[in-house]
This record gives sequence, C-alpha cells and structure tokens, in this order.
Amino acid sequence: MLVSATEMLQKAKAGHYAVGQFNINNLEWTKAILLTAQECNSPVILGVSEGAGKYMAGYKTVVGMVNGMLEELNITVPVALHLDHGSYDGCLKCVEAGFSSIMFDGSHYPIDENVAKTTELVKIAHEHGMSLEAEVGAIGGEEDGVVGKGECADPDECKMIADLGIDFLAAGIGNIHGVYPDNWEGLSFETLDAIQQKTGDMPLVLHGGTGIPDDMIKKAIDLGVAKINVNTECQIVFAEATREYIEAGKDKQGKGFDPRKLLKPGAEAIMAKVKEKMELFGSVGKA
Ligand code: G3H
Ligand code: ZN
Repeated sequence: MLVSATEMLQKAKAGHYAVGQFNINNLEWTKAILLTAQECNSPVILGVSEGAGKYMAGYKTVVGMVNGMLEELNITVPVALHLDHGSYDGCLKCVEAGFSSIMFDGSHYPIDENVAKTTELVKIAHEHGMSLEAEVGAIGGEEDGVVGKGECADPDECKMIADLGIDFLAAGIGNIHGVYPDNWEGLSFETLDAIQQKTGDMPLVLHGGTGIPDDMIKKAIDLGVAKINVNTECQIVFAEATREYIEAGKDKQGKGFDPRKLLKPGAEAIMAKVKEKMELFGSVGKA
C-alpha cells in the first residue's frame, strides 16, 4: 500500500539519513526502483513530473501500475508516490488519481501567492491523508520546462512557508537540476544552516541530486536534508547501458527485437545506481 512521505521523512531527519526520491518514466524504471528498495530494505519515494505523468498516459495509469507492482512484486517497504514540481491543477489531479504525496512548486510566484496556494493545497492534501512538499527559491537548470536560476532561498520566506503546516520543504541552496556545469560554485551550506535553524524539525529536500559530490551530500544530511531527488543520473546510466548493449552488437548484431531484452541492461543500470544512492544517503535497512 502506498504511504504518505511524512513519517518516513520525519524518521530520516531524526535519524540523520535521507530518503531518495527517484523519478519514474515507465514500467521498467518503476520496477527497477521498487525491487532495489525492497532488496535494500529502504523506504523510497517515486517521483512523477507532470511531463512523465502525461508520457505514462496520465496519473491514474501511474497509480494503477504502481499499486499493481506493490502487490505482485510483494513490496513491503514504505513507498510514496509523489508528484514532482506540481502546478496547482496538477496537484488537484494527483489527489483525485490516488497519489500519496504531492509537491506544489510555487517558487516562481511572488511569495504571497505561493503562501496562498500552498495553504489551500496543504488543507486538501491532509484531508486525503497525503503529504505535501512546498518550494521556496527557484532551483537552477530546467525540468519539464520549469526553469530556475539556482538562487539561494531567503530563510525568512522558508519559515513563512514551513509554518503553513507543510510536511517537507524544498529550498534553493545553489543546487541545479541536470548535470552541474564546470563553474558550479557548490551548495551554500551557510544558507542551508540558516534555513534549518529557522525551520526546526522540518525535513528539508535537496533537489538536483545528480552529480553532487558525496561529501556535500553527507554535509547536507548533517544539516537537516532528509529527502534527496535524483533523476538525471538514472537517465544517464539507462541511456549508456542501452547504447552499449546495442552498439556492441549484443542484440544479435542489430537483429534482436525483443523489447524485454533490449531494455534489460538499462533497467539493471538503474538498479545499481539506486542502490549506490541508497547506501550514500544512509537509508539502507531503515524500512
Ligand atoms: O525533482 C527532481 C530533481 O530535483 C532531480 O534532479 O535530475 O538533477 O537529479 P536531477
Ligand atoms: Zn527538482
């Protein structure tokens, strides 16, 4: 059964580890992540962007697929199905479809509007037993057309949003979606520390988990990050493994056409990457 992400993230924050959110794109992605979570005895959050939701034929299809897998694959670790960077309307659709968690990304609105919309959605999410993630301070790079500048969030604005009763908070601390450019200056731990001091027990979320050096990840967890989002890194290893399999002629010299075989190396690469991240985040054995 799907669960809200509130309890798993409160436990993570108290226990000084982080739960990974891994974005899904299709059946192979979902199955690979769920099987790895079960093998690692780790809680996990499946992230679905609005674009990926459309690609998978809509949120109800996603809910059906994930619930089916939880049952048929005997997944017993805590799993949350979470809308990633949702719009106001996207959040409402996921509430209706049966997600267990939503992120309202109001970071591009003026703070008053972010507050107003987040307030409404917290109420709706909690009435449905779901968790809600809010965002302050745009996150750099681009994801599904949402472009951010990599700014650092204002700790006072973070407190304002945290006080609305949200369950976890994404705050920009210099992180960027996608591959980090060579001239990236790194995470601002000063900002993270200030946000953590203003928001107390609130689990903090680190977006743009791809390619952040391990020592920075560990320091971020020490400073209150309890959820880390990883997307691009799984896409990269999937693409590399698939390309390698085909280019090496392992698909019967280009004459193989069984999709289950063509997609297997990519799915195995995702499993290895997810396991590596769960070990780094410290969530192994925490289910
Ligand atoms: O919301 C999803 C993420 O923040 C993932 O970022 O693609 O850089 O790993 P990433
Ligand atoms: Zn993100």
